[in-house]
Amino acid sequence: MPTDLERLRRRVLAYVDAAAGRSPLTSAMARLLAADDELLGLLNHVPDERQRIPNVILAAVHFLMLRSPDASGHELAGWFPTVGGSRLVDDPDLGRALGSFLRSHEEILGLLRTRTTQTNEIGRAAVLRLGIRAVARDRPVALIDVGTSGGVNLHLDRARIDHGIHGTVGPADSPLRLECELRGDIVPDLGSVTIGWRLGLDRDPVDLTDDVAADWTRACIWPDQHARHERFVAARDAVRAAPHTVLKGDLFDTVPAAVAAAPEDLLVVLTHSLVLYYLDAAQRLEFEDLLTELSRRREIGRVGLETDRVIPLTADEEALLGIVGDEASALVASRHVGAARTVVGLGRSDHHGAWISWR
Ligand SMILES: C[S@@+](CC[C@H](N)C(=O)[O-])C[C@H]1O[C@@H](n2cnc3c(N)ncnc32)[C@H](O)[C@@H]1O
Repeated sequence: MPTDLERLRRRVLAYVDAAAGRSPLTSAMARLLAADDELLGLLNHVPDERQRIPNVILAAVHFLMLRSPDASGHELAGWFPTVGGSRLVDDPDLGRALGSFLRSHEEILGLLRTRTTQTNEIGRAAVLRLGIRAVARDRPVALIDVGTSGGVNLHLDRARIDHGIHGTVGPADSPLRLECELRGDIVPDLGSVTIGWRLGLDRDPVDLTDDVAADWTRACIWPDQHARHERFVAARDAVRAAPHTVLKGDLFDTVPAAVAAAPEDLLVVLTHSLVLYYLDAAQRLEFEDLLTELSRRREIGRVGLETDRVIPLTADEEALLGIVGDEASALVASRHVGAARTVVGLGRSDHHGAWISWR
């Protein structure tokens, strides 16, 4: 069922503001889409009504740029830094170039019909690592990343992470470089993290060893976000250098199997970043119950990096964490032993791991 054009326009215009500070090119292209009924109507090729958002159309354009010489030779490529473009977003020719690109590349329709946007943010590795250190201290870890997508965060011990004046952790010669500012008065423990075994879980995993899948994931990153592209490419290469294993399926089915498969001599640590918000309130409680249940047989560590109120917290924990709001994620590191939960770390963090304020 097609969505009414005015409704699509309102949705697209909401992106103009949302993207403005972070990706001027996305914001400008969303504004141009909103002003052209024919281009706006392309979104009706997306089967899922809720996915009729500018990100999917702009990711499709970006994907073709990354993959096809014909697309990267089009005038529009002049605005895409990921394929060498450097033209200014307020250049009046951008609208004509975007329209010409969308009208001359029929492949766009196939992508709109079959693809959804999916990202995998390696920047979160810096924050997840701090949570794992808080849970495990010096114990070697069996890492299970729930909702792993392309699995980049399974490789968090392979990144060199710069915490500014507080120091740098991870292998000095790693090409995968991250930066995470430590804000506030409390500095978390920056000690080592040893991962002895790792496994990803996802109902819809992305195989980053496959060029097409990797390029689609990359295309979902806004083209003018230079630092994100640089670290995604380095993370993709880290995955390719040491491919991990993934169990495909719903987390409620795969978590118990993964915990059972983890070597006995390692501490199981489950990580989940930007995953529980896919669950409804009852399922989120069910996930906590699952951790409790699993901890009757085996100690479980959990490091969750999620949006506000997604991880159920006691009133004391919430007061300590403070209001997270839209501009930050909540980090909760907890230990589950014999059906009891102890929170061992809390923080407010940038959604992509650029900073954390530890409580
Ligand atoms: C926003 S992505 C986050 C990916 C990754 N954790 C990160 O931080 O970049 C959410 C991922 O969770 C997965 N997911 C959502 N609900 C799930 C479920 N019930 N069971 C398994 N995976 C799920 C999605 O397929 C997707 O790959």
